[in-house]
Amino acid sequence: MDRKESIEAFATHVSKWKAAFFRKYGMDFVMGSRGGTRLSDLDGRKELINLHSNGGVFNLGHRNPAIISVMKKSLDELDIGNHHLMSAERAALAKALAATLPKGLGKTVFGVGGGEAIDVAIKLARAYTRRAKIVSFVGAYHGHTGYALATGDDKYRAPFGPRPGGFVQVSHHDLAALEEAVDADTAAVIMETVPATLGMPIPTTAFMEGAAALCRKRGALLVMDEVQTGLGRTGRFWGFEHFGIVPDIVVTGKGLSGGIYPISATMFRDELEEVFHEDPFIHISTFGGSELGCRVAMEVLRISQEPAFLAHVRSLSDAFAQRVGELAGRSHGYLKGLRRLGLMMGLEFGDEDDGPLMTRTSYDAGLLMIYANNDKRILQCLPPLVMEEGELDEVFGRLEAAIGKARLLKPGLALAAMAAGVFGKKGK
Ligand SMILES: Cc1ncc(COP(=O)(O)O)c(C=O)c1O
Repeated sequence: MDRKESIEAFATHVSKWKAAFFRKYGMDFVMGSRGGTRLSDLDGRKELINLHSNGGVFNLGHRNPAIISVMKKSLDELDIGNHHLMSAERAALAKALAATLPKGLGKTVFGVGGGEAIDVAIKLARAYTRRAKIVSFVGAYHGHTGYALATGDDKYRAPFGPRPGGFVQVSHHDLAALEEAVDADTAAVIMETVPATLGMPIPTTAFMEGAAALCRKRGALLVMDEVQTGLGRTGRFWGFEHFGIVPDIVVTGKGLSGGIYPISATMFRDELEEVFHEDPFIHISTFGGSELGCRVAMEVLRISQEPAFLAHVRSLSDAFAQRVGELAGRSHGYLKGLRRLGLMMGLEFGDEDDGPLMTRTSYDAGLLMIYANNDKRILQCLPPLVMEEGELDEVFGRLEAAIGKARLLKPGLALAAMAAGVFGKKGK
């Protein structure tokens, strides 16, 4: 199918509303060839530098040659495997994951996607503590599956019926609110180490230490959602390492796939395995921890743990910070700053129109960047971790063009309202 046929078929058989949104928004891009930090439209008319990386799926770039080579070799030997049986591949990956974590976090349940892995974390916490309450943060995002959805904001959840019992949200990074919410019936506090959909507000060490201490004191488990922040994104292997805390449960997904084969994992403290004592088959997933995915994930871990890899992430982050500072100075106050923990970054603008507007003008200038849905002043900036510093001249040339165009278009423009019109009742 060519580009035009693909768009028509997408609108007819996948989603006419998404197709309409992208048409109105002026981003009728259909992903074609891809490699490294770049992707092209199906007809080759447009090339984008990926500064979103699907929230970390493309940490190692598109079609990383080492990952492809492992996948090809594995296809000669393996398949998905059998989730009812024991597996050398799942055993090896679980052992490798345990080696990346603080002592005592030695067990893994595998899944297919991040939401599923979050559901497992919540099931584990409830079953282990025999408590019901799950505390999450307003504006956080943990996925669209059952329990993950229940931790999230009303706008994603409300059309699908009442929130299941026991789920409570408090305002983010607010220790006093957490103190009030976490009680003797609380099974877990769940948080993203840096909340991406909320626009990358970076927590303080005092907050993280306070939250961890509070959980310990009240007997609740601390679940860190490292779906975006894990695997080197922040310049440490796990984002929580920055804050000197040790969670009880850690969730990873996205980048674990190498961008090639879906896999996610819920890692947890050894004692929690007691939950499966009576019936080890009480939680299963047909494709969770598929053997092909395990091989790919092993290669992801090998690459991301090389000593030079994390050093590169930190130095690229510093280079971004310096250039964003310079660009902000030239932007007449339009670009206000940078939130960052390693390459977990958010560009700050002044108001809620700016994120959607910058997403569009960045696209026009040849950058794939997406605004933070729960704080539209922020443009998420998540380059592949393998981006070379040599690419930054081009990246920042395009970003400067995008900012220039946004400043020109901004007066009188209401792209955010337009987007709401596509999705909202008025547009139907
Ligand atoms: C922090 C975080 N947790 C969980 C998820 C859910 O992952 P998935 O879409 O693979 O179910 C996402 C997805 O964007 C995420 O960003």
